[in-house]
Amino acid sequence: MSLPAQVKIVEVGPRDGLQNEAQVVPTEIKIELIERLAEAGVRVIEATSFVSSKWVPQMGDNAAVMQGIKRKASTVYPVLTPNLQGFDAAIEAGATEVAIFGAASESFSRKNINCSIAESLKRFEPIVSAASALEIPVRGYVSCVVGCPYEGAIAPAQAAGVAKTLFDMGCYEVSLGDTIGVGNPASIQRLLEACTREIPIAKLAGHYHDTYGMAIANIYASLQMGMAVFDSSIAGLGGCPYAKGASGNVATEDVIYLLDGLGIETGINLAKLAVIGDWITSAINRPNGAKAGRALCAKTVA
Ligand code: HMG
Ligand code: MG
Repeated sequence: MSLPAQVKIVEVGPRDGLQNEAQVVPTEIKIELIERLAEAGVRVIEATSFVSSKWVPQMGDNAAVMQGIKRKASTVYPVLTPNLQGFDAAIEAGATEVAIFGAASESFSRKNINCSIAESLKRFEPIVSAASALEIPVRGYVSCVVGCPYEGAIAPAQAAGVAKTLFDMGCYEVSLGDTIGVGNPASIQRLLEACTREIPIAKLAGHYHDTYGMAIANIYASLQMGMAVFDSSIAGLGGCPYAKGASGNVATEDVIYLLDGLGIETGINLAKLAVIGDWITSAINRPNGAKAGRALCAKTVA
């Protein structure tokens, strides 16, 4: 199959990238990050999550972030909503798109959202109904699609089953989360084969964490299977508070370097991204995990 001509990037740095930071990142920095990413041409920026601040204190300023950003008409700013309480708060704060997040692993579901997979799916139904009444698009996530930090390997059919339930419920797109980055092109291919028996590839996204350095290879394998939506995080920031040792998502800079090289259009300016990655990692005192970002910044300085 030929590669897609265009790819949609869902930038998850302000949410997935920052949610695991122990030090609370100032709200102004989060707002500046989101605005600069939009300015660099990113069209979808997951801005924050409306989860319990007892569970994830870093996202406690969710409403202030949503209300603080100067929005671009060309950009959408989805947020995570685990339950109706989070959904109502998100709408109140001006969210125009939300994401519900389940898992293919029972243990991870309990650790992450304090309920079983079946309970989570029941809990998502009223969110999707409320969103539908307000014409708010809902994206679905499935975590641990390849492996779980508590249960080990996850069968592709298990991940595909949860993805199908979210899709049938009304999610316009389902993002497949390799939460702990254990996938490789062979396991990702098996996963996508199972998922595309249930859902068209155009409705699936790849959300690959880069713990084992396989994420770019996994994206390339997914592109070859026709996938055209990928989640990534500026400077490769992040991890999940309930998946110890998991690193950030694949770095957006590295993904854009790959896609630019393949002649695939994204609308995103790589030079601007590299500067943003350099800035945010200095601002929060983290190493820059983007290889392409570091290389580009080193070239500019030299
Ligand atoms: P719970 O404790 O079972 O909730 O948590 P509860 O309904 O029993 O309520 C307990 C308290 O939480 C109550 O407050 C509620 O008001 C409050 P109290 O009466 O004790 O003062 N509460 C809330 N507060 C604010 N916003 C809400 C909310 N809901 C209840 N929405 C809950 C269940 C789902 C809330 C909790 O487990 C939670 O917040 N989990 C979120 C964990 C999280 O954010 N994980 C990271 C995101 S997922 C991820 O990173 C994976 C992904 O990137 C894909 C991948 O990589 O695989 C998406
Ligand atoms: Mg993630």
